[in-house]
Amino acid sequence: MDLEKFLELMSEAGFFYPSFEIYRSKAEVGGFYDYGPLGVELKRNIIEKWRRIFVYPYQDFIVEIETPIIMPRIVFEASGHLEHFTDAIVECTRCGRKYRADHLIEEELGRRGISVKTEGLSFEELDELIRKYGIKCPACGGELGNVRAFNLLFQTTIGPYSENVGYLRPETAQGMFVSFPKVFNLVGRRLPLGIAQIGKVGRNEISPRQGLIRLREFAQMEIEFFFDPEDAKCPYLDELDVKLRIIPERDVAAGAKEPREFGPREAVEVGVVPNEWMAFFMGLATIYMNELGIPLDHQYFLAKLPQERAHYSSASFDQMVYSERFGWVEVSGHAYRTDYDLSRHMKYSGYDLTVERRLSTPKEVTEIRVYPNPQRIRDAFGNEASKVMQAVGKADPSWLASELGSKGVVTVNGYSITRDMVFIKEERRKVFVERFVPHDVEPSFGVDRIVYVTLEHAYTEIDGKPLLRLPPDVAPIKVAVLPIIRKDNYVSIGKRLFREFSMAGVRAVYDDDGTIGSRYAKYDSLGVPFAITIDDKTPVDNTVTIRDRDTKAQVRVGVGDVVNIVVNAVSRKLTINELAKSMGLQLITRDRSNA
Ligand code: ATP
Ligand code: GLY
Repeated sequence: MDLEKFLELMSEAGFFYPSFEIYRSKAEVGGFYDYGPLGVELKRNIIEKWRRIFVYPYQDFIVEIETPIIMPRIVFEASGHLEHFTDAIVECTRCGRKYRADHLIEEELGRRGISVKTEGLSFEELDELIRKYGIKCPACGGELGNVRAFNLLFQTTIGPYSENVGYLRPETAQGMFVSFPKVFNLVGRRLPLGIAQIGKVGRNEISPRQGLIRLREFAQMEIEFFFDPEDAKCPYLDELDVKLRIIPERDVAAGAKEPREFGPREAVEVGVVPNEWMAFFMGLATIYMNELGIPLDHQYFLAKLPQERAHYSSASFDQMVYSERFGWVEVSGHAYRTDYDLSRHMKYSGYDLTVERRLSTPKEVTEIRVYPNPQRIRDAFGNEASKVMQAVGKADPSWLASELGSKGVVTVNGYSITRDMVFIKEERRKVFVERFVPHDVEPSFGVDRIVYVTLEHAYTEIDGKPLLRLPPDVAPIKVAVLPIIRKDNYVSIGKRLFREFSMAGVRAVYDDDGTIGSRYAKYDSLGVPFAITIDDKTPVDNTVTIRDRDTKAQVRVGVGDVVNIVVNAVSRKLTINELAKSMGLQLITRDRSNA
């Protein structure tokens, strides 16, 4: 693949290009990219395809929401991002340039032919590698300082008060955790419940230099999938006709580089994937990538070792896709977040985020009860006594008992309660339900990385001419309407067809400029799967040809049928050859050099 030619096409055709072009010499800000008209359309279609695979078929229990991208500080205190969402940074003591330490080490050693894995290493271990291999500042050769933590959250203030700190979300996920009780109510208080969200996030990446792969502002498509850990069956698992290629945790620890194949159920049964829902989403993720044009041997799941996992995860897999330009790239992360996030938000908000589980057989439980001692409370609080008794009645009895047990005193709603002011009792009773914090698995997709690998896989050259073999359902433009020459009656038929396509919701272009060969080549390079040609026969017998981008084959069909045929070809993902065969149409084979 001619990478330079590919990147030139991406920018010239308006798929994507660096932002803030006119200020490039005045403001050096990497990690921001614009999408041009074709890029926007492609991105939209890739997102819509994700909905078609992950959301729409499961509408009974997966719903999509949209929440703010700026969130107050307490959300990220609770989520653990303020404490843990950091990368290792190292600064040159001479020129002051800053680098992401793990990436710098891997790049520098890679250049020397030494392969090291830095993910999960402590700052001290990274420092050791820098000293051991004498790694210097790549820009000026200066000595590097010590590795330290850099928090990736973008900070802002909310409103005119400088103390009201907020952050740009680094993942859409927190929106789903924070609104869980609301959405749970909206869907009728049922589990399992998947809450999906698609939207922008921000991460203040230290030195992003990999185009769409590492941005400071990018889009994610995520599902937080809440389920009862005691009832984690996925009824759709066996419907998946796909193999998961995985390097399991044990193999990663042993240094294996080759994935092994597992059926989705098998992966759970042999203990490689912790639960059925996670295997289910990994299966869908494989299908999604495959339908975007990524062959199975260009994708696999890489298990993360405990020290490599995010702070909230008890099991993680990165879905890796091969890129000629960047090597293996993580396009989606699959994490078993357990009850971590909801439990933390419960603690920080004081809001009950548990749900009820009906027991198949009632259970005898011992419960701690705390009753106010009216006499003592009256002695201590006089007129306030009834308020104090109410406050004690509302407080969590286990917490009250444990605080009083350990400290002898506890503050409830501002009242200082001592051990003698309450009766603590253990009571046995039969219960038919119990409460628990739902568990969560999360498939998290980076839209921009997926756009990139889709484009890279679609790109090829035939006889030196670029061709984008984008799957028809995600191609930005589905059909080009091309009169072979600019003659009045050809033009009017062409323009009418263009309008008919547009009204049928099929993105089309009309073009009568230049030779037909150069127009075919242009729309091939933009990934347009079908070209409709209005030629000498059209005014005579009311037929046009449909040309297939990939095979260059053509079929001749009636003008009145062409819109329907293209709609079918796009949605059924058929080539014109396949479609012609199914409709009994004659293929017109052409000299390909002419196309
Ligand atoms: P990496 O290890 O490459 O930094 P990550 O492990 O931080 O990625 P996650 O936190 O799992 O990534 O984020 C979920 C998904 O969001 C990733 O699979 C990826 O597709 C996407 N993503 C993460 N960081 C970026 C970024 N800086 N630019 C573009 N996409 C990103
Ligand atoms: N929600 C997972 C992540 O963005 O890391």
